[in-house]
Amino acid sequence: MPLSNLEYIPLRLIRRFVLSDRLLLRFGKLFPYYRTNHNQVDPSPLVDAYDSRLKSAGFEPRGTRILEIGVGRTNSTCYEIAARFDPSTTYALEPFVDFGATDDDRLLELVSKRNHQAKEAIANRVKRVRDLTSIPSGSVDLVLSSSVLEHVSDPDSLFKELHRVLSANGSMLHLVDYRDHFFKYPYHFLQFNKTTWNRWLNPGDLPVWRVYDHIEQISAAGFKVRVLDETRDDRAFGLVAERISKDYRRDDSRLLTMVASLFATKT
Ligand SMILES: C[S@@+](CC[C@H](N)C(=O)[O-])C[C@H]1O[C@@H](n2cnc3c(N)ncnc32)[C@H](O)[C@@H]1O
Repeated sequence: MPLSNLEYIPLRLIRRFVLSDRLLLRFGKLFPYYRTNHNQVDPSPLVDAYDSRLKSAGFEPRGTRILEIGVGRTNSTCYEIAARFDPSTTYALEPFVDFGATDDDRLLELVSKRNHQAKEAIANRVKRVRDLTSIPSGSVDLVLSSSVLEHVSDPDSLFKELHRVLSANGSMLHLVDYRDHFFKYPYHFLQFNKTTWNRWLNPGDLPVWRVYDHIEQISAAGFKVRVLDETRDDRAFGLVAERISKDYRRDDSRLLTMVASLFATKT
């Protein structure tokens, strides 16, 4: 067993059985290895990342109808999207996390000042929704997400619904973080079979999808998928390479993909 498991396993057990999401939301900054979401700090770097990937995929977002899924506690990335891309519609989907009005207002102020646009003018263009059923079929041109797909428990249903809401030429850009979210050890969770992981170590929202799972699921929902960019860390993988569970494709080089941008278009 790698020595690092002496640190990894106890801290994963603590995260699973002691630290609640509510506690992390309030005091997360104080905990080692915990990362606060973009939507609570500054949406600009994330919208920069969307922008550069859309350019490389050849998709022009200006004036289109945009849906960002899994926006989290605030609508801030959608405010930045509305201010920069001037979409005709901007939906902010968040099914699980409650809206944080104070944080949202602080970030709206930031977006408003930076883009020299009135707060109300930006806010009025963003519609927060709890589920996709309220969005008409074929009414969206672009679906965006960041650090969401790795948390989705039923991706087949999600991709089917996204296919429904997208227009005929609709596209999706998903930025996905396939690392173990105990970021110091990006592959340690691959040592455990899915049953053990889910029973003892999963913090509750990490099903451990790999990029090859998402490519297959998105394709099966009726999309053509391209991986625009991806990263890997062979040194970190070396710590657990001999111990990968049979539940993962040990012969697939994409097992190591840590962070990837997936661009999909309806077929
Ligand atoms: C790590 S947070 C990322 C938040 C934000 N996108 C960001 O980058 O800061 C993951 C988000 O995905 C959302 N999520 C999980 N499953 C989802 C699903 N099936 N559909 C939409 N959002 C989902 C969670 O509620 C959570 O807000």
